[in-house]
Amino acid sequence: MHVPPRLILATRNAHKTAEIRAMLGDRYEVLDVTAFPECPHIEETGTTFLENARLKALGISRQLDGWVLADDSGLEVDALDGAPGVGSSSYGGEEGNNVLNNLCLLVEMADKAERRARFRCTMVLARDGREQANFSGVVEGRIIHAPRGEHGFGYDPLFIPDGYEKTFAELGEEVKNTLSHRSRALAKVIDFLTNNCLPK
Ligand code: IMP
Repeated sequence: MHVPPRLILATRNAHKTAEIRAMLGDRYEVLDVTAFPECPHIEETGTTFLENARLKALGISRQLDGWVLADDSGLEVDALDGAPGVGSSSYGGEEGNNVLNNLCLLVEMADKAERRARFRCTMVLARDGREQANFSGVVEGRIIHAPRGEHGFGYDPLFIPDGYEKTFAELGEEVKNTLSHRSRALAKVIDFLTNNCLPK
């Protein structure tokens, strides 16, 4: 019987896990750190997505055997000089509060005509406490003036990717997963794993 290789995600964000699991299908057994309650919480003290993804990947990889994948991601808005950036998850003042984060973004953008933005995702793959490789993915788009749509998470209701007229939250998981920053980084991870490490 074929046992799929295990990939441990260094996250407690159920939305990220669900997206990555959906994109990987049954090629991998995807777990996240909620399956390992003894794993420490890793403080994201870095100043870049790469630094934070490294902190998470290496911190968890020192505790657990096997392949560990960390995702650090966020929204960069040109009119806000790249904010919320690495501070995306606590932009409204409370870690992980998407309602406050979106409200804060709308207030900051209220008087801005320039609406260009992008989601950026950096992934670090680690094993035995060492970084094996890192990857990134970007999706360009714009910020609208009021939230639209019920799907996804975070800033999805405020972001329209280039080439579309609907927000990520309106487009839904299936479409989002074909063009998102996370899917673009993950495609590179899959290439790396299949070419270097794991049976096809
Ligand atoms: P992290 O968990 O430190 O990487 O923070 C990620 C934060 O960036 C999330 O809490 C969201 O606010 C935002 N973010 C990252 N990816 C997405 C996405 O795919 N859709 C919407 N918001 C996202």
